[in-house]
Amino acid sequence: MANKNDHQLMKLTLTILVVMLVVDVSRGEFQRFQPSTKADGSVTALVIGDWGRKGEYNQSLLARQMGVTTEKMDIDFVISTGDNFYNDGLIDVNDPAFHQSFTDIYTAPSLQKTWYNVLGNHDYRGDALAQLSPILQARDNRWFCMKSFILDADIVEFFFIDTTPFQDKYFTNPKDHVYDWRGVIPREKYLSTLLQDLESALIESNAKWKIVIGHHTIKSASDHGNTQELVDKVLPILEANGVDLYINGHDHCLQHIASSDSPLQFLTSGGGSKAWRGVYDWPNPKEMKFFYDGQGFMTLDITHRQIGLNFYDIFGNNLHKWSVTPLPSIISAI
Ligand SMILES: *[C@@H]1O[C@H](CO)[C@@H](O)[C@H](O)[C@H]1NC(C)=O
Repeated sequence: MANKNDHQLMKLTLTILVVMLVVDVSRGEFQRFQPSTKADGSVTALVIGDWGRKGEYNQSLLARQMGVTTEKMDIDFVISTGDNFYNDGLIDVNDPAFHQSFTDIYTAPSLQKTWYNVLGNHDYRGDALAQLSPILQARDNRWFCMKSFILDADIVEFFFIDTTPFQDKYFTNPKDHVYDWRGVIPREKYLSTLLQDLESALIESNAKWKIVIGHHTIKSASDHGNTQELVDKVLPILEANGVDLYINGHDHCLQHIASSDSPLQFLTSGGGSKAWRGVYDWPNPKEMKFFYDGQGFMTLDITHRQIGLNFYDIFGNNLHKWSVTPLPSIISAI
């Protein structure tokens, strides 16, 4: 039976815990989350980006195919590379676009898993904080969205980073669009904290595989091309800390670049709805493992022994397949 001293001890412990939590948050470090995964520790994920258009531009058709293709895959969760709601994010937490572009679209049984989302530049054009709200999580318990965070699946750690605030043009040409920079300004402090947190999290990571997810491209042959701010500020940190893959959206295509001057693989999964931009510009054809200018998605299969990835189009055709085993041996197929 608990006595008074026990209660006081419990109170004290709770107070210490709360203080520790507050201190931790104020330090700005990425919060860490653990997804539910399979008993053998392997991880299967579907990756999609640039999708929320109330079913239009083939979003619904692709959603159906995502359900069919992953029916027997036993995916653990979905990763969204941002631009979740077009054209201007959500108006607020009550915006019906949340249902029209998400809940009512991705209805297949295999997609009833947690969706880990980052924000894209279009999401910042609305109420960016609405997408981070627990109210949305209560409306659809699959929904999970934060600006930057870590998903720790033991053998693999996913580092989700908020890339929109890096791009200068959103700040220098504010007349084009209005962005919701609450929590981002002062910008220099926000970016330097983010970079420090990313670097220390990567240094501390003991995971076999490290994957970084952001909305904006680092390297891309499509419409937006490379994002110079990320090439300058983020890429060196990824290269110095053994990151295996960088996965983005932003360009509305599917793409795999194995750069000759970087150990990383650069993957674009931004084909969730409007695609077919008709732009392709990449100087070195040897680096371009795969490029598809249409709608589609990617899957990741990760075990202790290897990362496998597959790209699929709207008909479920497997367009590109690739895998890597721990260095130095690299197996590449197709
Ligand atoms: C929908 O997908 C089909 C098949 O890829 C394509 O031919 C068509 O152009 C797409 N429609 C749009 C609006 O993207």
